[in-house]
Parts: sequence; structure tokens; C-alpha cells
Amino acid sequence: MQLINTKKELKSYLDSHKKTKTIGLVPTMGALHMGHIALVKKSVEENDLTLVSIFVNPTQFNNKEDLDKYPSTLEADLTLLKAVSDGIVVFAPSASEIYSGEIISKTYDFEGLENVMEGEFRKGHFDGVGTIVEKLLRLISPTRAYFGEKDFQQLQIIKKLVKIVHLPIEIIGCPIVREANGLAMSSRNERLDTELRQEAGFIYKTLKAAKLKFGTKSANFTMDWVKKQFNAHQKLNLEYVKIADVDQLKPVKRKNKKVKYRAFIAVYAGDVRLIDNIAL
Ligand code: PAJ
Repeated sequence: MQLINTKKELKSYLDSHKKTKTIGLVPTMGALHMGHIALVKKSVEENDLTLVSIFVNPTQFNNKEDLDKYPSTLEADLTLLKAVSDGIVVFAPSASEIYSGEIISKTYDFEGLENVMEGEFRKGHFDGVGTIVEKLLRLISPTRAYFGEKDFQQLQIIKKLVKIVHLPIEIIGCPIVREANGLAMSSRNERLDTELRQEAGFIYKTLKAAKLKFGTKSANFTMDWVKKQFNAHQKLNLEYVKIADVDQLKPVKRKNKKVKYRAFIAVYAGDVRLIDNIAL
């Protein structure tokens, strides 16, 4: 397995390998778990070469403490990736390598996708995500890039990004991988103690029940029902629940059979912020 830390090394690797080969890129911030590995496996199946980037991108954190606490486990990450395939190439640059000069984001217009949910509660987050993903896509020019539905809003924004900046790259969405109790896998789960991690299974349990409710009830009724469940819960604090159409992420006014919807949720378990979503 090859570990690359600089743009220069990356360029020389790509110059010697890219010509006739398909490349799959899996962008990550490291602290890898089976959710990330599912994306990596799909890329390995579908491409000649797979590149995994590991970079904790400072511009997408609106909270300095969250950035400081973000786990870094490079050795363990490399071991997990090697077990998938020894041929995987890892790109793990420093912040100064990626952001020459000031560490700032570009400003994007994602046609409203960036203003709701995570965009509303984490100001500037999607400008940071767009900035790093655009940089990686331009540096690597992959055939395909893989993103998880765990961050469904991010996935839709990246699909919009490649259209806006005219990059001929296929963006592939992959299903959410969960722990045994239903909690969506996340690097942040490591910060929960055993009891809270178990309790956090309540998030997916509530989303599944909301999906059933939405079969017969309105979006407002369903969201109010979810809010009540969390109000009654001692340890989990709901930040938001939203039901929106999958393409524009606009709130549902009146249900339309032809439109696909998803429910989105952000919850605090102690000081750990968890997000999840479900297709309705
Ligand atoms: P990170 O949180 O490390 O996630 C990397 C990729 O793994 C994302 O596409 C995310 O949606 C996916 N992922 C995480 N947990 C998952 C799960 N339980 N099931 C399926 N997929 C999962 O998302 C980011 O990093 C960053 O914003 C990034 C795109 C790398 C830009 O910095």
C-alpha cells in the first residue's frame, strides 16, 4: 500500500498510472470505520485504482472545539485499508499542502441546498466541504467519487458541485452502514461512553417509526411526533427533524406520490452531535 503526503508525489503517481486506468476516489477525514470501508470496497470493485484521501478539513468546521477533538488514527486507518486491498493508495496531506496561504473557503451557490438543515445549523460548513472536495477532484481527476448517504445533504451538494464547476466525474452515493443497535456509524461515536452509545440506537428506532407514521400522516404530524419522542428522552437532545424532498431538500408542503422524501435528524448525545436520515 502506498501512502502519499504531497501534491507533487500525487502528481507523479497519477502521471505514471492514470492514462488507461479508471480511478475511484473516496474522500474521508480518517478515523475510518465500516461505513467508510463500504465506500472503499465499492470503489475497489468498480475501478482499476482506488485512492482514499484522509484529511481533516479545517474550513468545514464551524466549531473549533469539534475540530480539535476530531480523532486522528492514521496507523489503524492504514491497517483497515490494507485488509481491503494492498493496492489502495492513500493521500494524507497536511493543511498547508492543501491550502497554500490562507486557510479559507471559496463561496458557492448550491441553489439553496446549502441553506437548510446542516447548512442552517453549521454556518459555512458546505462552503468548506465544497472547497476541499473541489480541490481533491481537480488534483486527482477520478473517474468516480464515492460518498455516503449518511451525509445525504453533502452527497446532493457534491452532485450539484460537479455540475456547477463542470467536472466530468460520476458521483456515487452509498447506503448508510449502522452499528448493531441501528446507530449510524460515525467517527464521532467513539466519543460516546458505552451507555450513551447504546442509548443512541433510539435515533434510528425513532426514524423507522416516523417512516411508518408518514405512510398515513402529514409531514407536520410526523415531525411533531418525533419531537415528542425526543422531549421525553432523558439523554438525547433533538436539534432538528426535517422532512424534505430528496432532490431540492425543500420542506414538504403537501405530500405528492411522485416525489421521494427523506427524514433528516440532528441530535446531541451529551456534547456529541449525531446526524442520521431515512428514506420515507
Ligand atoms: P467523513 O465524515 O470522514 O466521511 C467520509 C465519507 O464516508 C462521507 O462520504 C460519508 O458520508 C461516508 N460515511 C460516513 N459514515 C458513514 C456510514 N455510517 N455509512 C455510509 N457512509 C458513511 O464526510 C466527510 O468525511 C467530509 O465532509 C469529506 C467529504 C471527506 C470532505 O472533507
